[in-house]
Amino acid sequence: MMRFPTVSRREIADGVYTRSAVEADLPSIVTLLAQIHNDRPPLEPNEREIAAFHEILGSPFRGILVAEGDGLVGMLDLFIVANLTRGGRPWAGIENFVIDERHRRRGIGRGLLEVALGVARDAGCYKVQLVSHAKRDAAHGLYDALGFTAPVRGYRRYFDT
Ligand SMILES: CC(C)(COP(=O)(O)OP(=O)(O)OC[C@H]1O[C@@H](n2cnc3c(N)ncnc32)[C@H](O)[C@@H]1OP(=O)(O)O)[C@@H](O)C(=O)NCCC(=O)NCCS
Repeated sequence: MMRFPTVSRREIADGVYTRSAVEADLPSIVTLLAQIHNDRPPLEPNEREIAAFHEILGSPFRGILVAEGDGLVGMLDLFIVANLTRGGRPWAGIENFVIDERHRRRGIGRGLLEVALGVARDAGCYKVQLVSHAKRDAAHGLYDALGFTAPVRGYRRYFDT
């Protein structure tokens, strides 16, 4: 069975380092994630978020990469999915990718994504897949620059409760 690798601290942009998330990062992570939908940051993580964070950190197939400069300035959630096509090679997905708005356009997002691509490649994945709302021009500029293509039509259905 695979074990999601711990990413050791390495520089990805000037004075900014990536590493695997640890327990103490959760309050900064929920603050950062509020920027994805321009929400007001919560005062502290709620019980469901705490439980989800522990589940992610304990998963052998999933991990959160953070970018750290003067505090946490970015993150993404990378998960590896077992697969029965492509000769049984897994694929990787990325969610909750965000860079602090005060630190954008410094190459931090690119650096974080490149590390994630390396983890997925090393895990034997045949592709990395993510979805992005059509309005997210900055993200699309970055994905294009890193060789992602958008040949698919994605569907989602939200539940009311
Ligand atoms: C998308 C996001 C993560 C990019 O992070 P970032 O650290 O600013 O990106 P980088 O500085 O590494 O940019 C690398 C390249 O991506 C492209 N890019 C980044 N921001 C861009 C923008 N606003 N417009 C056009 N291209 C952009 C450029 O090619 C850029 O290279 P360059 O600066 O040399 O021209 C960041 O804008 C963000 O957090 N946005 C809000 C949340 C979000 O949309 N997340 C993705 C959800 S799918």
